[in-house]
Amino acid sequence: MLDKINSLMADIQALAASTPEEVEAIRIKYLSKKGAISALMNDFRSVAADQKREMGQRLNELKTAANEKLAALREAIAQGAEAAAADIDLTRTATPMPLGTRHPLSLVKNEIFQIFGAMGFTIAEGPEIEDDWHVFSSLNFPPDHPARDMQDTFFISRSPQDILLRTHTSSVQTRTMESQKPPVRIICPGRVYRNEAISARAHCFFHQVEGLYIDRNVSFADLKQCLLYFAREMFGPETKIRLRPSYFPFTEPSAEMDISCHICGGKGCAFCKGTGWVEILGCGMVDPNVLEACGIDSKEFTGYAFGMGIERITNLKYRVKDLRLFSENDVRFLHEFDAAK
Ligand code: DAH
Repeated sequence: MLDKINSLMADIQALAASTPEEVEAIRIKYLSKKGAISALMNDFRSVAADQKREMGQRLNELKTAANEKLAALREAIAQGAEAAAADIDLTRTATPMPLGTRHPLSLVKNEIFQIFGAMGFTIAEGPEIEDDWHVFSSLNFPPDHPARDMQDTFFISRSPQDILLRTHTSSVQTRTMESQKPPVRIICPGRVYRNEAISARAHCFFHQVEGLYIDRNVSFADLKQCLLYFAREMFGPETKIRLRPSYFPFTEPSAEMDISCHICGGKGCAFCKGTGWVEILGCGMVDPNVLEACGIDSKEFTGYAFGMGIERITNLKYRVKDLRLFSENDVRFLHEFDAAK
């Protein structure tokens, strides 16, 4: 019997298991009612009385050793499972999806909203499919103006009246003045269309923001101050502006505005072609003819207007070299603006 006990003891010491099922199999083999150790307990009854004490001790040692071994195996398996669990990142999404980002034109448009919003401008919108009156006639374009030409404008129909894709957001000026009494202080964002060959520098559609302020005693100085504030908010507090005389049918006087080149600070570089200035928008005092066409008394009210291309402002801020990138939806291009919020 002692031999049996010793050999079982050796077996038990050598046991190994890697799953809870294996541990259970070991328990059944050695410690269950029909197991090897229970069988020895039965043999114990027939042991001679003078050996009972020693055998009993040895048997108890064997039983304790078996129980300890089982406990040790269980513990090792539990620890292994814990370590494996620690390697799992529970915060990862079950189905990874690439996150979208804002389009650069939306980023810049929102910034424009924010800057003019701080000056009390509200947002007004109008349709992209327009009639001649809102895009041209009400804005003092003469009947033979070249912009009405098939070359520049996409016409949808020409009779009984001209219906076309708006070529600028100035049409929203008219729509707003027709429906709203002064004071009017709006910016009008939107898509515009021109019949241009698509290239890196021109597209048949792009985006503009129009601004309009009508009230009593609005002056050119008010326009200049408003645009200076905008330029400094958009391009930095050191930015200077310069207004050059220009011509638009709907403003008198009219001007084009340049900002000091934000790349070289005005010293002259390749970007500003050595001039130190870059053009960013058109503006002027609303022509009295436009006010009258919209039912506003031009003796009582004056106003200023301005219009800028969102692509243009975005190019200046982010130096996008090819206009076509804005409408191609290439995610590699869009992801370049991730950090810009
Ligand atoms: N509508 C002009 C364009 O598309 C931009 C513009 C110039 C708008 C002067 C204005 C303005 O309101 O006053 O080129």
